[in-house]
Amino acid sequence: MDAAALRAEFPVFEQLAYLNAGTCGPLPAAGAEAASGVLARAVEEGRRQPYFAALLESRERLRNAYAELLGAAAGDVALTTCTSEGIVRVLAALDLGSGDEVLSSDEEHPGLQGPLAAARAQRAVAIRVVPFGEIADAVGPATKLVACSHVSWLSGRVVPALSAIADVPVLLDGAQGIGAVPTDVATLGCAFYAGSGQKWLCGPVGSGMLWVSPQWSERLPASGPTYVNLADPGAGLDAVPHVGAARHDASAQGLETIAAAAAALGVLGGAGWDAVHDRAATLAGELADALAGRGREVAPRDRTTLVSWQDADPAATRVTLAEAGVIVRDLPGTGLLRASVGAWNDASDIERLLCALP
Ligand SMILES: Cc1ncc(COP(=O)(O)O)c(C=O)c1O
Repeated sequence: MDAAALRAEFPVFEQLAYLNAGTCGPLPAAGAEAASGVLARAVEEGRRQPYFAALLESRERLRNAYAELLGAAAGDVALTTCTSEGIVRVLAALDLGSGDEVLSSDEEHPGLQGPLAAARAQRAVAIRVVPFGEIADAVGPATKLVACSHVSWLSGRVVPALSAIADVPVLLDGAQGIGAVPTDVATLGCAFYAGSGQKWLCGPVGSGMLWVSPQWSERLPASGPTYVNLADPGAGLDAVPHVGAARHDASAQGLETIAAAAAALGVLGGAGWDAVHDRAATLAGELADALAGRGREVAPRDRTTLVSWQDADPAATRVTLAEAGVIVRDLPGTGLLRASVGAWNDASDIERLLCALP
């Protein structure tokens, strides 16, 4: 892999040691060009039939690209606006109510916690929270769903093997998984995988995907079918949702969003996904080692792209680092700072972070 060539695709590195893909990935110039090209044509020509024809075609190409990355069939992948949307759609569609339990973990993001709390408040679903590392062994008789992260946003740990959970569907929050680490939905042992396009896939905000296992395809109704979800929208009240995951597609996404997401995938895929994953995890490991070597308390992690460490005042240190051109985030309420390391980073970013740390 030509790491320097990949890095050069992302202009942000001319100025910054950008280590924040866990929030939003760096945008490749190709993604911005694709989006602005679409908008420029729309300004000139209006958004008429060719715009919508291109939109339909681009959507299917993006669906295919996401599916390839997930090791899935395109028909099982919905285009969403973000991880949270996929989670919301799955929870809304599952038949959960009083007496049912959702098993979750203590390292979840508000993108999952919010929908779970709503299920508890509105449908009397019980939510049981166990330590992230113990979730695979904690399924009980009332458990109707396991819902947790593929990769913890707090620590960078990977969820334990889930394949032994046979009778209960698993909803994985893949926000810190897809694009960051190899993601093969067949071996993960989940029924649903919700991911972000704007993080480790370097797409625009407003892109993402939801994979629905073929075993669940017919059992997961469309929770809010609108025009794009209907196989025959002209049939009015008799219209039925698409067969397959397209019934869960987001109601609206512009061609500029789809085009930018696809262009970013092209950049990353062009570098080779195996190499992208490997380089990112290796660099992240080097950062973790260097921090520990300097006496910092690094949160227990796996071979992923996130590195979190204790800091006396994470919010203030984040600002100090940003002033030095180093972009990381703090994780409120945890005492942690978090760096997100991608294949686009290099040793100079890590060095800059280490030198700027107060
Ligand atoms: C683990 C996890 N889940 C969900 C989200 C929310 O992602 P999105 O904005 O794509 O819904 C994030 C965002 O940081 C996250 O880290």
